[in-house]
Amino acid sequence: MSIWVEAATFLREFRKTFHTTGAILPSGRFLARALAHGLHRQHAPCRILEVGPGSGAVTEVIARYMRPGDHLDAVEINPRFVSLLQHRVARDRPFRKVCDRIRIIASPVQQVAGEGLYDYIISGLPMVNFSVSLVEEIFAAFHRLIKAGGILSYFEYIGLRLLKRPFVGKQERQRLAEISLVLEDKIRRHQVRVDRVLVNVPPAYARHLRLKPSHAAAATG
Ligand SMILES: C[S@@+](CC[C@H](N)C(=O)[O-])C[C@H]1O[C@@H](n2cnc3c(N)ncnc32)[C@H](O)[C@@H]1O
Repeated sequence: MSIWVEAATFLREFRKTFHTTGAILPSGRFLARALAHGLHRQHAPCRILEVGPGSGAVTEVIARYMRPGDHLDAVEINPRFVSLLQHRVARDRPFRKVCDRIRIIASPVQQVAGEGLYDYIISGLPMVNFSVSLVEEIFAAFHRLIKAGGILSYFEYIGLRLLKRPFVGKQERQRLAEISLVLEDKIRRHQVRVDRVLVNVPPAYARHLRLKPSHAAAATG
């Protein structure tokens, strides 16, 4: 798929479903590589969950990094992105060698069943658009789905949480402040690496957190 078609599709979805799409453009190649960085260092076959693949900008890079035995589940809430991604995985060149090891799940990530399933969770979710309770629910799902020692990688646009504050009403400011508290707490406790990606529109941090699994067996294992 050409980058122009991909960008146009993304912009259309941004207009229709701003709340869940949360970005005007798909992530650029440098940000996608920063997010998938951990896969390079993996020696044993691993299970990867991509959350919010959208038009597949990051999925494509993950597919290029996948080694024999790796498996990718991509969970997407927007049915139009799901169709686009199914089409891309079936036809586009970067997916050719790995398409039989990619599963697309049409669902919100909070409803993905199971526990302790994934070595890597790579998320593109626009957390700053969500309510505090939804952010907490999503992190609870991440803690449930991650394996012991697993890594969550996600991005946030540099300064966005702070930049938005002067331009919004009191209630919205309060929501942003509370989301910052939740995210800063996760970062303080679990972050093992952060990459500043300036060559992206807008520039972003790719954060990597070693999350603790919430399930007892993996937590003690
Ligand atoms: C900012 S876009 C990121 C798209 C792509 N990963 C990228 O970086 O270009 C956010 C994506 O998350 C999806 N999304 C939002 N909430 C979700 C949820 N609860 N579960 C799964 N996907 C969700 C949106 O539909 C959208 O595709």
